[in-house]
Amino acid sequence: MSNDFRISNDFLWGAATSASQIEGAWNEDGKGMSIADCLRYRPEIDVKNYKKVNDVDTLEIETAIKDSEDKNWAKRHGVDFYHHYKEDIEQLANMGISTFRFSISWPRIFPNGDDLEPNQKGLEYYLNIVKELKKFNIEPVVTLSHYDMPLNLVLNYNAWYDREIIGFYEKFMTTVIDYLKKYVKYWIPFNEIDSIVRHPFASAGLVKDRFPNKNFNEVIYQAMHHQFIAAAKVVEYCHRNYKNMSVGTMITKTTVYPYNSDPRNVLKSLKQMREVYAFSDIQVRGFYPDFLLKKYEDEKIVLSTQKEDEKLLLNNTADFIAFSYYSSVCAAEDTEGLSVSLANTTSGVYNEFLPQTKWGWQVDPTGIRISLIELTDRYNKPLFIVENGLGAEDELTKNHNIHDTYRIDYLSRHIQQVLTSVEEDGIRLIGYCTWGATDMISASTNQMSKRYGFIYVDLDDFGNGTYKRYKKDSYYWYQDLLSYGTQIPKEFFNE
Ligand code: BG6
Repeated sequence: MSNDFRISNDFLWGAATSASQIEGAWNEDGKGMSIADCLRYRPEIDVKNYKKVNDVDTLEIETAIKDSEDKNWAKRHGVDFYHHYKEDIEQLANMGISTFRFSISWPRIFPNGDDLEPNQKGLEYYLNIVKELKKFNIEPVVTLSHYDMPLNLVLNYNAWYDREIIGFYEKFMTTVIDYLKKYVKYWIPFNEIDSIVRHPFASAGLVKDRFPNKNFNEVIYQAMHHQFIAAAKVVEYCHRNYKNMSVGTMITKTTVYPYNSDPRNVLKSLKQMREVYAFSDIQVRGFYPDFLLKKYEDEKIVLSTQKEDEKLLLNNTADFIAFSYYSSVCAAEDTEGLSVSLANTTSGVYNEFLPQTKWGWQVDPTGIRISLIELTDRYNKPLFIVENGLGAEDELTKNHNIHDTYRIDYLSRHIQQVLTSVEEDGIRLIGYCTWGATDMISASTNQMSKRYGFIYVDLDDFGNGTYKRYKKDSYYWYQDLLSYGTQIPKEFFNE
């Protein structure tokens, strides 16, 4: 066995972000109001109960619309990447990344979603970003929709529940793809397409009280179907028009272990894993798995579909599987007396072998390797880790240092597993992105103090701060790692 991890020349090392969590400038240069502009940090709610934070109702939306300030609505100001993008990209380039994942704010391009013409200033902004990235030989990975759609589509069309949205999304995606075609190869139609079942508003603009006479689960699965059709249309459009483009599905890869070897718990974990895979199955295999159809039947969920849907899904499957990985959970048939743990926005049974963050997410580096093996064995397709990282509170010292050893430890242990998997498990991996580049607003809690970046941004949970950037110790650590190029000494991870 070699003393080095050998990595192919074209492996992409990077960092990932999303528009609503970094950009700010929520009402500048023609941008329309986004669903993300209606989400606020709620200090009165326990951060482990974040489901409640983003469970927005009509009253909350009305309150948001009336408030023209950005103070209370963290995603309106983000970390002002909109005005700092040159500085931020330069710092990331100096760190040595070869890819940068970001998303397009749909309402920056079509402010109301149903506009006839795109907002030119929005398009130019993203063109400037990709040009800036290319200047430093950084490969852009673009998510078209990351928890960010025009609010008007919620108010006047019932968001992703109405089939009409597919047409608006199609116009949005073709406009963006055509505009950035010279610069972007990798496209992801939806961030964590499975997340709609966990936070229907943040992912798909679904507000429960707007569907008083409907089974809300049916509403969610109907909207999900529309997102699958829209995603297949992205694949179809790219493949038909641009041969070099590659389109991925993107799922939240939670790993669910049986709590112990009791076969009932093994069965339970298997069933929960099927729920994770249902989404990628549809996009990678091109049809609904029988177990999902059975669930619809049992729960009396009837979807309205069109004749051409089946063919569209089958003929336009994803080229690669992108996924986020943060944590794992356990499953038990009988949960009495067992503690709960969280993994991103899912929950499960606490795993006594793993530490837990302040937000209740259990830290499990081996789980990322398990995920790579599971996904390869199920789909035999190229994989792309597009999010992995640690949300933690950082302290800015008087001398403007941030000694985030815990983040270095987290990343080091996960990357070590990833590289071991590539070396030993026969994985085809396109690249690896940390979640976070600069710090940004948390998607689930809307906090600033849950930080993920290599670059600290001076801002608090209430929007106070200078927005100044400071490099953390983890910045220099990642820089060191990337400086090894295609041959990384294994002992780097044991230092
Ligand atoms: C992922 C999302 O699931 O988790 C990101 O795609 C999000 O948008 C990340 O920021 C971390 O979650 P959080 O809630 O800690 O920001």
